Amino acid sequence: AKILVLHGPNLNLLGAREPAIYGRDTLADINGRLAAQAQDAGHELSWFQSNAEHELIGRVQQARDEQVAMILCNAGAFTHTSIALRDAFAAVAIPLIEVHLSNVHAREPFRHHSYLSDIAVGVICGFGADSYRLALDAAIARLAPR
Ligand code: DQA
Repeated sequence: AKILVLHGPNLNLLGAREPAIYGRDTLADINGRLAAQAQDAGHELSWFQSNAEHELIGRVQQARDEQVAMILCNAGAFTHTSIALRDAFAAVAIPLIEVHLSNVHAREPFRHHSYLSDIAVGVICGFGADSYRLALDAAIARLAPR
């Protein structure tokens, strides 16, 4: 099945951005491992990063036409602000797994609320780059066998 990984604003800077919080892995490192993990399980993974809300929304809408079966999304700060991105996920009705590198609940109060969590299948946060691996494990477990 097709799995899409969406990365929101500032995640293009991973590896260099606040490494004490977000770790040393780059986005390319993470995407490369996810692609291999998906392929081993017989799935097809693509990914998209944007700093622009409308581009992320456009990519979610496009996912419906492509018959994407599951979306993993780290929406970055848009998690806490974007009703529009939430509405896009609700509109396409593709199962969503919300991902964060950091434990947002152990950080500033403005990171405690997510516009995505209640429409997500589940949320994984706090495990650094491993959060993505764990989320992909969960996605693979839910998808029909090949
Ligand atoms: C983040 C947490 C968000 O609060 C923050 O704005 C990010 C990254 C994370 O992966 O821990 O950009 O989504």
